[in-house]
Amino acid sequence: LKKITTGKDDKGLKLYDPGYFNTAPVRSSISYIDGDEGILRYRGYPIEELAENCTFLEVAYLLIYGNLPSQRQLADLEFEVSQHSAVPQGLLDIIQSMPQDAHPSGAFVSAAAMSALSLFYPDANPSHMATNAFLRTSGKPPVLPSNNFSYAENVRYMLDSMGNKSYKPNPRLARVLDIIFILHAEHEMNCSTAAARHLASSGVDVYAAISGAVGALYGPLHGGATDAVSKMLSEIGTVENIPDFIQSLKKKKRRLSGFGHRVYKNYDPRAKVVKKLAYEVFSIVGKDPLIEVAVALEKAALSDEYFVKRKLYPNVDFYSGLVYRAMGIPPQFIAVPRMAGYLAHWLESLDDPDTKIMRPQQVYTGVWLRHYAPVK
Ligand code: ACO
Repeated sequence: LKKITTGKDDKGLKLYDPGYFNTAPVRSSISYIDGDEGILRYRGYPIEELAENCTFLEVAYLLIYGNLPSQRQLADLEFEVSQHSAVPQGLLDIIQSMPQDAHPSGAFVSAAAMSALSLFYPDANPSHMATNAFLRTSGKPPVLPSNNFSYAENVRYMLDSMGNKSYKPNPRLARVLDIIFILHAEHEMNCSTAAARHLASSGVDVYAAISGAVGALYGPLHGGATDAVSKMLSEIGTVENIPDFIQSLKKKKRRLSGFGHRVYKNYDPRAKVVKKLAYEVFSIVGKDPLIEVAVALEKAALSDEYFVKRKLYPNVDFYSGLVYRAMGIPPQFIAVPRMAGYLAHWLESLDDPDTKIMRPQQVYTGVWLRHYAPVK
């Protein structure tokens, strides 16, 4: 669409669309959401089927290359990933130079580290980087990945082993993490992916585009909600406090973290899977009493007119925070699987002949014209 004008003084047709409610800057074949029906598909496959049957690396392959891999293709990908698991010493040095009492935002640290990554090593694995960023802010020494484990097992190994090579990750917890990674891998034009495509449109390298995306993901209205939910549930503390908390939300001083979504006006299909996973994790590591608060809070909100009228349902972050906490995984780790989605979008933008530098319009509301007068 070229600029539409009717004459010399006509500045052209503009759609004032704050938040891009009705603007589609790209065409994409990677994922599909029907927000009214609560449907999410990656490359045509329902998210529930992928979560049930696939590993995260199979899904990453699907997102990036368009089809699920053959056994051979998957074996090649697994080999490649295991060969490129370790980040170089120079990058670890950057992470080690960060203050130990830095805000434990793996996303922030990953974003900074990601920018530097291209200087050292173009094929590095984000999970190793994120893990070491987290270990640093927890005051623990860095750990190298092992070639003996699957992708998710390796994350658990790096987080929990403290370098003890005989440590064996719990396979059920590793599988839960793998499923969570599948659920968080891609979500079409969400804020951070849109940021990645926006940056990509200017021709920056993939690292710059992904750094910007990870920065956006960290916001409390986006992926940062995972962390915000756990803090909110701790603050509520007990089921008895829920009615007062719900009333306070209606005064609009704050939001119910993990509820509501720009696209879903129904239950987020990922939230249903995560809720089930929470019970699976608790059966292994012991129950987090805050699950009772979460379930009661969901029930109270879903029967309250404020939430019903606005079609506010739990989103993927509502139960994710508790699952991550129970597994000892920092919530900012959702940036790790989302790399698959960012990369798929990066490639799609390169292949799309319609890709143009993204340059939205504004509606100017400032002073029309005035002239400089010397300071008196
Ligand atoms: N709690 C209370 N009220 C809410 C919430 C909420 N979580 N979400 C939306 N509302 C209300 C708004 O106040 C607004 O009310 P109004 O019509 O009376 O003004 C109405 O619902 C619509 O809200 P918008 O802000 O216009 O919706 P938008 O699509 O812009 O926001 C968002 C979507 C940011 C996700 C919002 O629902 C929210 O802030 N949720 C809490 C944070 C969260 O969980 N984010 C994670 C999203 S999923 C993800 O990114 C991984």
